[in-house]
Amino acid sequence: MTATPTFMTWGQDMTHKAQQLKSITFELLNADTPRHRLRPEVLKLVDILTDAQVTPPPALDDIADGETRTVNGLAISPKMAAMCADDYVRTIAFVRGAHAAIKNFRKRVTGRPARILYIGCGPYATLALPLMSVFSSSDALFTLVDIHPVSIASARSIIETLDLTDSVSSYETMDAADYRAETHMQPDIILIEILLACLKAEPQVAVARHIMTEFPDAQMVPEDISVELSWIDTRKELHINHEPTDGPTPKRDRIDLGTAFALNVDTIKTWRDITGDTLPGATMQLPATIDSRYEPHLFTRIQVYQDHVLQNYDSGLSYPQALRSPAEFKSKDTIRFSYNLGSHPELIATILPT
Ligand SMILES: C[S@@+](CC[C@H](N)C(=O)[O-])C[C@H]1O[C@@H](n2cnc3c(N)ncnc32)[C@H](O)[C@@H]1O
Repeated sequence: MTATPTFMTWGQDMTHKAQQLKSITFELLNADTPRHRLRPEVLKLVDILTDAQVTPPPALDDIADGETRTVNGLAISPKMAAMCADDYVRTIAFVRGAHAAIKNFRKRVTGRPARILYIGCGPYATLALPLMSVFSSSDALFTLVDIHPVSIASARSIIETLDLTDSVSSYETMDAADYRAETHMQPDIILIEILLACLKAEPQVAVARHIMTEFPDAQMVPEDISVELSWIDTRKELHINHEPTDGPTPKRDRIDLGTAFALNVDTIKTWRDITGDTLPGATMQLPATIDSRYEPHLFTRIQVYQDHVLQNYDSGLSYPQALRSPAEFKSKDTIRFSYNLGSHPELIATILPT
């Protein structure tokens, strides 16, 4: 089955490049094609966006050049932000999830477009541009935000080349932590992807917390990011073929201990009165016996929207990370997780004294 262009009532006057973008987007949205089979289509998408880019970011020797250390974490360089597209299962999950969120909003609200606030658009506006080609501006209107002027200039140039300017209500070059309800229109959907595995280093937590406090009625995409603790037998994990699949998860040898920390609208609400630099995570007790073959790892699970989910190994964002602690973990230890905000944000684990 091919994805149906539900709201597509325009198209005759689209440029040839925009038509190409639209056909690739329908291929990406086709739920019958497993995400892991669509790398060539994502590369084609990148080609289309690169070709349409009139003002590409300057070529630099070091891909980290141009990054910004904000008070809430690292805003990666425009070059690195462009490279995120190639984390292709992630790209597809976000495009499909945002597409579903817009469709659902338009089923509920007729007579005006869904307003999408896209934070951290990067130089390609990778997660929004495909959607602009399949939704008309009367179905979806985007505000693009990025801290880096070269990224906004590049995204704007692509949108102009593809004749999609009607789909953008404004471009904002700013730190999203300064984006305020009093000076901006209420969005319906807030799309944010400024994260790494385990919510480390980049400012997703602080920015999502700020934006969802400003606009509590908006739909956040991703809906939930959970960091889960498991003791794993790494030999079993590593013997398994980690090519992403949409099939059943292969059998691994793990002791799952549950969610250490979660970012979603409910947890954001519980942090309302916290003024310090630390957010609470879970407290967990380790089992009475843990065989020496197991090692503690954190897994990031990203529910983009409804059933559009990134599970273990689907993306660089959901690869496991070894859990570090100043002291060695022992059976029956009680571990408390907390999330350190600030310019180097990260989830940390502390062993509570017995
Ligand atoms: C991981 S990249 C994602 C790029 C693109 N959205 C994608 O998914 O392929 C994160 C982007 O967020 C931007 N960014 C990070 N922190 C930001 C902040 N506090 N305010 C605005 N933009 C930010 C970075 O400049 C970068 O372009």
